[in-house]
Amino acid sequence: MMDTKQFIEESIENIKNEVQDEKVIIALSGGVDSSVATALASEAIGHQLEAIFVDHGLLRKGEAEEVENTFKDKINFKLVNAEDEFIAALAGVTDPEKKREIIGHKFIEVFEREAKKSGAKYLLQGTIAPDWIESEGNIKSHHNLTLPDGLVLEIIEPLRELYKDEVREVGTELGLPDSIVHRQPFPGPGLAVRVLGDITKEKLEICREANAILNKHVEEEGLHKDLWQYFVVLTDSKVTGVKGDQRDFGYLVVIRMVQSFDAMTANVPDIPWPFLHKVSQEITANVPEITHVSLSLSNKPPSTIEFE
Ligand code: XMP
Repeated sequence: MMDTKQFIEESIENIKNEVQDEKVIIALSGGVDSSVATALASEAIGHQLEAIFVDHGLLRKGEAEEVENTFKDKINFKLVNAEDEFIAALAGVTDPEKKREIIGHKFIEVFEREAKKSGAKYLLQGTIAPDWIESEGNIKSHHNLTLPDGLVLEIIEPLRELYKDEVREVGTELGLPDSIVHRQPFPGPGLAVRVLGDITKEKLEICREANAILNKHVEEEGLHKDLWQYFVVLTDSKVTGVKGDQRDFGYLVVIRMVQSFDAMTANVPDIPWPFLHKVSQEITANVPEITHVSLSLSNKPPSTIEFE
């Protein structure tokens, strides 16, 4: 059993000793690991830490604001709005792996630009034990990251020896809100892999609104405690509907709610029908572009959790 308070005290000392008067940056995603690493380092070095939060326009409703509100008074928090850049790079791309590749490259490009401006010597990362144990099998305590144009950053990984549950304990002890410490996993490419086919701002907005309705009800009912992930997928199928006395042609969305321990396998639990009806009705009532809501019933395997 880890002594959380002792871990925090020792980590703060170590970070102070290592960093001295230098500047540190982190690519803060708002996920559990990078948020806890940020909160820990900010206790040690305060405003010497700059967090770069890249809004790629593929985030969920209210997500950027939530992360900003959590950190903006503690550190130098920089929200980089790169939505137009990402959307332009993704225009017309339908292949999921191509989408991932474009988003990954774009992310490095944007982050590198910001890293240079910051004058930082160190890069803080939220790496945790399972991230390196399977891939490396050995401990590399000192290493550098060389960005594509030759900028070298020394890496600091204060959570390197921790597992997820320990990371959450540290986050809670540091006062991070439950909405961050117990956040459901969200893929790096964000809504780009939940808007099937080509990406447009309009489709992202439709997906975001429907997803926010599902999220609100899942959390109000307390169903999230038993779920690994819950989200709405916007398909690229348009289906006929009727609104008022007019026939309408709108989007088909899919509700995906799964249980899992490690994302290697997943299952769809029993979900109360009245709950599903309520969410479905609220989605079609509030998001006029959607004419049909369906439910995904497939476990992993054979399906994956995400649709792309
Ligand atoms: P799948 O869809 O493969 O997803 O069953 C397993 C877990 O991984 C997440 N996921 C991703 N996370 N970048 C990420 O950071 C990605 O490209 C990506 N694709 C899937 C997914 O949300 C699930 O938790």
